Amino acid sequence: MTTMPSYSPRRCAQDILACLAKHHNDMAAAAPQVTQHIQSLLHHPSLLDLGVPRSSAHTQDSVWLYYDPEFFILISHPGKDVAVPAHNHGTWEAIGLYHGALRYSRYQRRDDGAKPGYADLTIVEERVMRPPEVSILPAPPNDIHGFTGLTDDTYILALSTGAYSPLRHYYNPVEKSYTARPQYQWNAARSK
Ligand SMILES: [Fe+2]
Repeated sequence: MTTMPSYSPRRCAQDILACLAKHHNDMAAAAPQVTQHIQSLLHHPSLLDLGVPRSSAHTQDSVWLYYDPEFFILISHPGKDVAVPAHNHGTWEAIGLYHGALRYSRYQRRDDGAKPGYADLTIVEERVMRPPEVSILPAPPNDIHGFTGLTDDTYILALSTGAYSPLRHYYNPVEKSYTARPQYQWNAARSK
């Protein structure tokens, strides 16, 4: 009989949901404790052996580790040297590095979002993430990041509310513009 490590995806989900409830769903206030819970799960020795396949907007080999309609934990593999452009999510999202290395950029908007197709972004975080580092995207309008896997064995954990926007914005920070695309279109176009 296989013995499950004590800190499971379900335990992580329960701890994070309790933490968010304690902080009235204020992710900024909950972030230090949420980060600790995610890092506990990142020490799990065999997350890649768990999970149920899912469709991914930007990565490969993506599986659910925990899912309910209001919260999920997934793990996925960003292709090595595949640059995923800056994009939004429609909700907050926490990212943790399980294996490998990830070039990661997080952005904030300087404009008020009133002009369609226009976005003035500034980088607020730019680094190479390694296990067990965590980064948390806040709720919209600053739910924007881009990343590139740097090794063949890079795997990232992502946790969010289950409310990813079906229509995503893809930004060109230099031109201060964005285009909207259905959330699976970018990955589908890349694999053709
Ligand atoms: Fe993303």
